[in-house]
Amino acid sequence: MTEFLDVKNIYKHFGKLSALIDFSFTVNKGELVGLIGPNGAGKTTLFNVITGFYQANSGKIIFKGKDVSRAEPNELAEMGMVRTFQIPKPFKELTVHDNVAIGTLFTPHRSKKTSLSTEEFVRRVLKSVRLYPVKEQLAGILGHGNLKLLELGRAQGPYPDLLLLDEPFAGLTIGEIQLVSEILRNLAEQGLTLIIVEHKLRELMKLVQRVIVLHYGKKIADGRPEEISQDEQVLKAYLGRRWSHRHA
Ligand SMILES: Nc1ncnc2c1ncn2[C@@H]1O[C@H](COP(=O)(O)OP(=O)(O)O)[C@@H](O)[C@H]1O
Ligand SMILES: [Mg+2]
Repeated sequence: MTEFLDVKNIYKHFGKLSALIDFSFTVNKGELVGLIGPNGAGKTTLFNVITGFYQANSGKIIFKGKDVSRAEPNELAEMGMVRTFQIPKPFKELTVHDNVAIGTLFTPHRSKKTSLSTEEFVRRVLKSVRLYPVKEQLAGILGHGNLKLLELGRAQGPYPDLLLLDEPFAGLTIGEIQLVSEILRNLAEQGLTLIIVEHKLRELMKLVQRVIVLHYGKKIADGRPEEISQDEQVLKAYLGRRWSHRHA
């Protein structure tokens, strides 16, 4: 497997607070990776730094062999890197359909990546996230479950090959979580690389091949889900409360 994303020695400070401390990891193309850690560990900050919403104080981000440490979110989207937000941010006054269609505008070279017309592509995305039946509804009136699905649909608009998902299961019922897991698994099967921040560990561990653990801005573990769920340091920092009692 070729190295796809290489995050090197990232530091990010907010005043006196160090949100990320010498943080490094790599992701290979096609991998499904989970990123976990207690609240305030730095997960969202890491996403913001990788996707160009924040600039790191130091360190490097290499994506597909290119140094993108200073790239803007729209340049990264054009290169195929897209993130979703913990709190969905749709265009509320647009329809579900148009919310997905608008994302295709960020990829002027999309025709090189797909032979589908924009309309065919949007239809396929809407079907993949199960929102085709409500495509003419305004995003502003969708319930939480559908909003989370729309977030997944919108993210596919630029035809990405790396998706960073911030808590895709948050606020969902068990049934909805299973649906989102299935959608994410399908995306991975189509060749997308996924990095997923999640607190719903049991469901996340079933989905991903590798888990990275953040604690106070530092990486404390990186391994297969079954290794991580038995790692002493991880159990102490985080999993102890959340994980062991559920599996007791
Ligand atoms: N824009 C910001 N300004 C100041 N502090 C921030 C900002 N974003 C995050 N932080 C702080 O950085 C730390 C990591 O936050 P965050 O990345 O949101 O954690 P997580 O997503 O793991 O819960 C927290 O202490 C948080 O308060
Ligand atoms: Mg967060």
